[in-house]
Amino acid sequence: MNISKIIKTLKEKNLYRQLKTIEKAEGVYVYIDGKRYINFSSNDYLTLAFDTKLNVNHQKCLENWPAGSGAARLVTGNFSIHEELEKKLAKIKKTETALLFSCGYMANLGILSSILGEKDAIFSDELNHASLIDGCRLSRAKVFIYKHKDTNHLKELLKKNRSKFETVAIVTDSVFSMDGDIAPLDKLLKLAEDYNTYLIIDDAHATGVIGNSSLDFFKEKPTEKTIIMGTLGKALGTFGAFVASTKEIKEFLINRARTFIFTTAIPPHIACMTLENLKEIQPRMARLRRNINLFSKLTGIKRQTAIFPLIIGDSGKALEISEKLFERGFIIPAIRPPTVPEGTARLRITIATGHSEEELEKLAEAIKSLI
Ligand SMILES: Cc1ncc(COP(=O)(O)O)c(C=O)c1O
Repeated sequence: MNISKIIKTLKEKNLYRQLKTIEKAEGVYVYIDGKRYINFSSNDYLTLAFDTKLNVNHQKCLENWPAGSGAARLVTGNFSIHEELEKKLAKIKKTETALLFSCGYMANLGILSSILGEKDAIFSDELNHASLIDGCRLSRAKVFIYKHKDTNHLKELLKKNRSKFETVAIVTDSVFSMDGDIAPLDKLLKLAEDYNTYLIIDDAHATGVIGNSSLDFFKEKPTEKTIIMGTLGKALGTFGAFVASTKEIKEFLINRARTFIFTTAIPPHIACMTLENLKEIQPRMARLRRNINLFSKLTGIKRQTAIFPLIIGDSGKALEISEKLFERGFIIPAIRPPTVPEGTARLRITIATGHSEEELEKLAEAIKSLI
């Protein structure tokens, strides 16, 4: 692989990526080179990650629980606080159990590569998150891609192919990470039942945003074959992930998911801080809803989730607009291929509980003047 050539080409195509250094974060604000910016690109939807009001509670977690877990869960890294958090998360998702993973990426790899194998098939939405795509590849199952949220296309594919495989799963983001639209989970559940497949739901951007669980949004309940992956690093404001499922699936994952078995358990104090944050979510969800509705009205971009995509198309143009917004005090990095499909470079604006009405109005005005 010619590394220098690849870097040169990325720069020429406006696809080169660079890290921005944040010196301090507080609420919805970040500080870069001593200047304060309003953060409109964080996944900290409930403004829990940098809320100094929570410091006292978090401090108690640090006093009571160690900085690290010292080992994998199956060795000597399984603390009672991990299990306490798992019980709470299962209750929230209305499943029998939950199992913590180090992060969402690893959880998705773990679920897909342990449950599906060479004789099996996965039916995957074309806009699923990279971690689901990589999980599909790792599983070595046959992968069928269905058109985005198109349950007729999915049904056609299932009708033609389901019987050729042993274990089969339908896999989808519930809230799509780059577009903020919502998968038709009620219809997907029905297809999963009709065709006897698992339904694997990635709830990373739904938890704490459109309900405690995306299934709540559709007033549906998980079945024996529903597996929900949720993250702790987004609306819940800490770090890590979990898989909510039946006891039997949890047992299976503990024994077979390599990304659970061969890695260090999340630090116990993080589990404790997540439990503290969970006490905070209900009123913050109500405030987030108000902000989402207001920003929908101000921009004309209709969304029920916290993700508002502003599709620009050209990567260079998206970078230019992002830079101009930065000059005006907003941080909204341009999202470019391969994170999003070719020709759909965008500004992925995210709304949080902590944004004031005035800040939402200021951003809507800035967007109008620049586009
Ligand atoms: C839809 C989706 N799934 C999974 C992940 C991975 O989660 P984590 O950041 O905890 O690894 C992300 C986050 O980037 C995501 O957007």
